[in-house]
Formats: sequence, structure tokens, C-alpha cells
Amino acid sequence: MTIDHSTEATNLTVRRTGRMVHDVPETGEFMVHRSAFTDGAVLERERRNILSRCWVYVGHASEIPNVGDYRTRSVVGRQVIFCRDRNDEVRVLLNTCRHRGALVCREPQGNDTTFTCFYHKWQYRNSGELIGVPGKISFPESFTLADNGLASASQVETYRDFVFASFDSSAPPLVEYLAGAADFIDRIADQGFRDGMEIVDGAHLYSMRCNWKLVVENSIDGYHGFPVHSTYFQYIGSRGVDLSVGLDGVPRDLGNGHACLDYLAPFARTVARTTAPMSDRAKQLITDIRAEADAALGEERAALVADRSKNIFVYPNLLIIDAASLQIRVLDPVATDYTNISAWLLAPRGEDRELRQIRSDSYQEFLGPGGFATPDDCEALETCQIGYQNIAEVEWNLVNKGYGVDAPEAVDNETQIRAFWRQWDSDMAGGPDGGTR
Ligand code: FES
Ligand SMILES: [Fe+2]
Repeated sequence: MTIDHSTEATNLTVRRTGRMVHDVPETGEFMVHRSAFTDGAVLERERRNILSRCWVYVGHASEIPNVGDYRTRSVVGRQVIFCRDRNDEVRVLLNTCRHRGALVCREPQGNDTTFTCFYHKWQYRNSGELIGVPGKISFPESFTLADNGLASASQVETYRDFVFASFDSSAPPLVEYLAGAADFIDRIADQGFRDGMEIVDGAHLYSMRCNWKLVVENSIDGYHGFPVHSTYFQYIGSRGVDLSVGLDGVPRDLGNGHACLDYLAPFARTVARTTAPMSDRAKQLITDIRAEADAALGEERAALVADRSKNIFVYPNLLIIDAASLQIRVLDPVATDYTNISAWLLAPRGEDRELRQIRSDSYQEFLGPGGFATPDDCEALETCQIGYQNIAEVEWNLVNKGYGVDAPEAVDNETQIRAFWRQWDSDMAGGPDGGTR
């Protein structure tokens, strides 16, 4: 039997089966139907099959170091209170009053043992129990405090200070879910081999008028760097940063939809690419820390941890960008064509002030929303989304670069992006009615 690979035949297939990823290893075809980025029904299904079932990143333990600390945020469309209760347990509570729904905590962060809803003053412990209801005597006897605590995520687990939650009680243990991504999170966490890692105070909260999956693709895409960020490369080149080495690395499929671009690009390490003069003191400190890393982690491991850059995607909402600085980037789909992004700078706890400043400057310069990279990427992704208005005539995206190549190279291959799409496709096809997870 011959397979008809014509676009017309593929379009008919997607209409019949609903599959939006067309993957034919024999011929190296890999296409994604553009309705994946534009169709409201797709986002609804993503919420059911992916965002409500996977482990999703909530925050870093260093954001709530003390008993009573809390942060409120939106996590893949759910409003949560990420907090540490009086037993030192990390909680992910649903920020909605059991009475009529108001947010019980409206502050972005703080420290308290209770949350009191401002609407009718119901009061909850930071472990979720309802402890106070004004005028309780007027409620029927069937109403109990015990039955009306704050709802919480079905599961909460922490891996190397990265706190994840699942809203599905049947999700597998976190470490099993993380698969190959665990080792890459280790490579990030091991940068704090002295005293651990911490989120630097303050966050960048911004949005892009594009589908969340475009941000996923872009964040692990080695192909776009030089063309899209040409202004940046011209700039750092003019400041004497050596770009001759290019981007030497590999795309990685880490399992379960997780993926990584793992590369050696000295210009992407803060120490080599800084465009401001660095003091002799700072240079010496960095040399000392690097030697200490060799001793603490072993030379081979230290090289993976310290010298290589990594754009890591932990399916479905977390990106860790270890290039130009170290960024935690979290995606929150709002609409098919609108994504909120929260980003934080991650750094070794107790870092020297001068080194922290260099790290922060490097972060702002490239990754910050007003830096060289993010506006470029935003422009690229928003124009993709606009381009999808032509879906009637052009239905498919191509994700086939380097398909079938045995020894893939970072710039010439989209293995890591295909890894994401395969899991997405599998989850979308399966889910609660017979899914793969
Ligand atoms: S909605 Fe919270 S107390 Fe009424
Ligand atoms: Fe980029």
C-alpha cells in the first residue's frame, strides 16, 4: 500500500482523526497543524488533558523560606497560594473562598498564619482548615467547618527545591514524571554546591500575544538564535566577545515531553560574555569558585554544571534558561493567542554582591523583557500567531529539521521540539478517556 503524503490527504486525516501532529519517520515528515495554536477547543482540551493532569511547576522553595511565608500566583490558569504552613510543610492551596469564591488572599506575598476572606470574613489556616465563620449559628446544622477548608492541589512534591503540584491524584511520583529532566535540574541545583540556590527578589511579569506552545518551541530552539538576535550578537561582538565558536551542542529528548538544548557556547556564559569590564577581584572570585566546583562535584560533573549552557523545558509549563544568566521562566496560557510569562533570576545563595550584580546585569541585558532577546522573540512569536490567520490556505507548520539525523547538532536539528510535540499529541489524543499518562 502506498501512503499518500500530500497536504490534501494530510488535511483530510487531521479532520477525520483530530490528530494535529503528523509524524512519519520513514519519510522524515513532521508537521503540526496550525489549529493547535488557534482553536479554542484545543486549549480547553489542553486544560483537561495536560494542564490538569501533569505535574506543573509552582515555585522555588527559597521563595517561602520561613513558616508562614506565602506567594499568590496563577499556575496554568489556577489561582493558588504557595505557602509554608506552621508544620513547615509546603502547601499549594486553591485561592478561592469556599463560601462564594472570592480570593482569600489578595496580596502577592507576605507572612501570615491565616487567610481571611475580605468578603464575609471567613478565616482559614495557612494549612487550609476553615477556622472561623462570622454568624455561623445562622447556617444549617449540615454545614461544618471541617468540610469547608480551602481546596488544595491533589499532590505537591519538591525536587531540588523546585516545587511542583499536580491536580490529578493519579499522577505518578514526581521523580518518575521528571524522567531525564531530573538530571538537568540537578545540573542547575548543583550550581549552588556551597549553600543551595535562591530566587533573587523581584520578578518579571509580562505577556505575549501568542499561543503558549510557541514560547515553548522558541525557548529551546537553537535555530533561531543568530538570525533573530543578530543585533545582540553584533553588539557583544563589537564589545570584544568571541563569537567564533558558534553554538556547539546537542538537542535532547528527556522523556515525557521534557526536552533540552545542551550546548557549549562560551559567549553564553556570564563570565565570558559580559559586555562591561569586570574587576580583577570578580575575575579571581569566579576562578576560585570554578576550582571549588571541580573539587566539590568532580571535574567532569563540574564541566556539565558550570561550562555548558542549557535551555531546559520541563513539560508543560517550566523553562530553565541557563544561558547569559540563569532564568526560571514559567508559562501560563490565558487564551489561544495570549500567554502570561513569569520570570525570575536564580542564583547561588549567599553569592558575593559584586558577582550578583554582574549576574543580574547579564540577565537584564539578554533575558529581561527590555533586554536584547525577549523583545526579539516576542516579535517573532507574535508574527507567527498573526500568520496563522492564513490557516485556510496554509494549514501546517514544519518541524522536520534534522529529522532522522544520527548525531544531531543543536542548530541543525529540532529533535527537542519534536519531543515536546509527540508528548503533547499523545496527551491530546488520550487523556481522561484512555490516555497515555
Ligand atoms: S466569599 Fe469569602 S467569606 Fe464570603
Ligand atoms: Fe530567542
